[in-house]
Amino acid sequence: MKARVISVNNQKGGVGKTTTALAMAAILAEEKRVLLIDCDGSSTTLTKILCQQAELDYRQLKMTLTDLILFKTLGRDTDAFADGAVIHCPEGYDLLPADNKLVSVAAALATQNDMEIRFKALSHLVEYYRRYYDFIILDAAPVLDLFATNQLVAADELLVVSQCQKASREAIHELLHTVDNFVRPINKALTVKGILLTMLDKRAKYGKQQIEEMRDEFEALHIFDAVIPRATEAERYVDSGRSIIYQFPRGNVAQGYREFMQEFLVERLVE
Ligand SMILES: Nc1ncnc2c1ncn2[C@@H]1O[C@H](COP(=O)(O)OP(=O)(O)OP(=O)(O)O)[C@@H](O)[C@H]1O
Ligand SMILES: [Mg+2]
Repeated sequence: MKARVISVNNQKGGVGKTTTALAMAAILAEEKRVLLIDCDGSSTTLTKILCQQAELDYRQLKMTLTDLILFKTLGRDTDAFADGAVIHCPEGYDLLPADNKLVSVAAALATQNDMEIRFKALSHLVEYYRRYYDFIILDAAPVLDLFATNQLVAADELLVVSQCQKASREAIHELLHTVDNFVRPINKALTVKGILLTMLDKRAKYGKQQIEEMRDEFEALHIFDAVIPRATEAERYVDSGRSIIYQFPRGNVAQGYREFMQEFLVERLVE
């Protein structure tokens, strides 16, 4: 079995990437094997939430994504360590955690002359995990650096998570520019699945207008019909150590993510 690898991305901060990656994992894990990879060393929100869920102290993790990528840059074999780094979460998915030293990884990659490592260190690591999972979800940091490029090179599919504000729209253009100029030459097969809009009321007049504007501006991209509404429960789930799917299963946000996942999975069949 070979996993589908999905990059949940947008270098605009605070748009809902981590909330989305975790909600996707929670829903998929009801039937499939899922690995979440925390690619954000600047906040490590995902690692902190899930260490709480697994009753671990995130400050005492012995092996993280940082170690595995740095081993790759040193030409060391990571297979012997890769299983030990994975944390099994009670909600049924696994996590490859990050620590704050992950932010130095982009600089370490930039010193590599070997293009295979510079752009594909993460791909080689992901390749190891593919055989054990149906889905691997990469939760991106709000930056567009060499490690972000590594994530897009490692992925089969790109899911853009976005709000409708100008800063988010500009960030999408930059992301697509990176995909076209730096990623496609290495990873021709990357599929841009589309844009998931978050923190928006699609029934309100202003919400409808914003969705139309997004469709006009990104006409070449699919914009998912499912939209994630703004709700306070989505701010509160973080402290629970759980996904929003588990913590507020009947809330509008969980409902929005279930609708989105149906669309995301079905849409693939008709591609
Ligand atoms: N649908 C929503 N409604 C209201 N608040 C939300 C919603 N989704 C996420 N949030 C809140 O917005 C904040 C940012 O969400 P999240 O951490 O998922 O974004 P992010 O894109 O991963 O951020 P970063 O770029 O910093 O990694 C969090 O406090 C989260 O709880
Ligand atoms: Mg995040």
